[in-house]
Amino acid sequence: MNYDILYIPPSGTTQHQQHAWVAYSNNICIGHIHMQMEADKRIKFLDAWVHDEYRRKGIYRRLWDIRWDFIHKGEEYRGYIVYAWCKPMSLPLLLEKGFVEGDSCIYVEKELMNTPPGEQCFVSC
Ligand SMILES: CC(C)(COP(=O)(O)OP(=O)(O)OC[C@H]1O[C@@H](n2cnc3c(N)ncnc32)[C@H](O)[C@@H]1OP(=O)(O)O)[C@@H](O)C(=O)NCCC(=O)NCCS
Repeated sequence: MNYDILYIPPSGTTQHQQHAWVAYSNNICIGHIHMQMEADKRIKFLDAWVHDEYRRKGIYRRLWDIRWDFIHKGEEYRGYIVYAWCKPMSLPLLLEKGFVEGDSCIYVEKELMNTPPGEQCFVSC
C-alpha cells in the first residue's frame, strides 16, 4: 500500500479544536480520523473512515496508532480521559487497545412533514 499521512492541527476557525490525520494516495483522501479537545480534560476520538476499496488493509490501525503516539508525546495530555462512540466495525480495535465498553447508543430518524402535525387532520365542521 503506497500512501502517506497528513496531520492537520486545529485551525481555530471552522475546525475549532479538532486534530485530523488524513491518509492519502495520489492526492486523494483514502481515510481519516479525528480527535476533539473538550472541557474537563476530555478528548473525543471521532470520525474514523476508510474508503471502501482500501478497507481491511490496516489503514485505520495505522491512523489510530499515529494519533495514540501523538497524545502520548510529552506530558501535555497526561491525566486526560479519552472516549469514543463506536460502531461494530471500530469497536474491536478500541477494546483491543484497552478501552472499557460503556453504554450503547441507538440511531433513530424521522422524516420531517411539510405541514405541522395539527394541520394534517381532516376537519369537517
Ligand atoms: C471502521 C473502519 C474505519 C475500519 O477501517 P480499516 O482500514 O478497514 O480497518 P483496519 O484494516 O485498520 O482494521 C483495524 C481493526 O479494526 C477492526 N475492524 C476493521 N474492520 C472491521 C470489520 N468490518 N468488522 C469488525 N472489525 C473490523 C478490527 O479489529 C481490525 O483489526 P484486525 O485487522 O487485526 O482484525 C472502516 O471500516 C470504515 O470506514 N467504516 C465505515 C465508517 C465507520 O463505521 N466508522 C467508525 C465510526 S465510529
